Amino acid sequence: MGEKSTNVVWHHATITRELREQQNGHKSAVLWFTGLSGSGKSTLAHAVEDKLHAMGARTFVLDGDNVRHGLCSDLGFSDDDRTENIRRIGELAKLFLEAGIVVLTAFISPFRQDRELARSVVPHGDFYEIFCDSPLEVCESRDVKGLYAKARAGVIPQFTGISSPYEEPTAPEAHVDTGTQELEACADQIIKLLRNRGVINL
Ligand code: ADX
Repeated sequence: MGEKSTNVVWHHATITRELREQQNGHKSAVLWFTGLSGSGKSTLAHAVEDKLHAMGARTFVLDGDNVRHGLCSDLGFSDDDRTENIRRIGELAKLFLEAGIVVLTAFISPFRQDRELARSVVPHGDFYEIFCDSPLEVCESRDVKGLYAKARAGVIPQFTGISSPYEEPTAPEAHVDTGTQELEACADQIIKLLRNRGVINL
């Protein structure tokens, strides 16, 4: 996509990310949950948010099914539209990071290159790719929204895992076994990671 915003000068805020982080008492970070539809991304992101919120951390969840009703309502599920969807979410997450917030994103984000782009727009070390690893058979047997059945019937084209690819992360910061592990254990795994990496000390 071409750069169209010429003659726009960046305004430097006096209230910096560091000042916000100091006020909040924790660092900001991007927690990027990726995985198949029905793998538990949103559920886990909200469970982690619940725990962080209870500790007094400032958080926000960006969720595929919600964002696609607003900011990304003009996008579908072609490869190009998914790429644009993830590009926008990456930029949005960057703003939340600047705002001093722990932002949790729950999007399939099936393409490795798109996730790498989202990672590249924030400072090194602030992006946590969290692979919600649940086998297709498990996601399909859950079929919470009834979409897999429709995809198998050919009613929904280009459905991830069925008729559109999902490229698994090769080196995620966290690999969570959302197919068999309890939600509580999965959430604790992420909280532990954030403590180890000094994001939270609460
Ligand atoms: S992404 O591929 O661009 O990252 P996103 O996470 O925003 O996808 O949206 C995925 C959600 O949209 C799924 O959880 C599902 O509810 C719905 N959906 C509708 N059509 C499709 C499709 N063809 N492939 C995957 N998910 C779909």
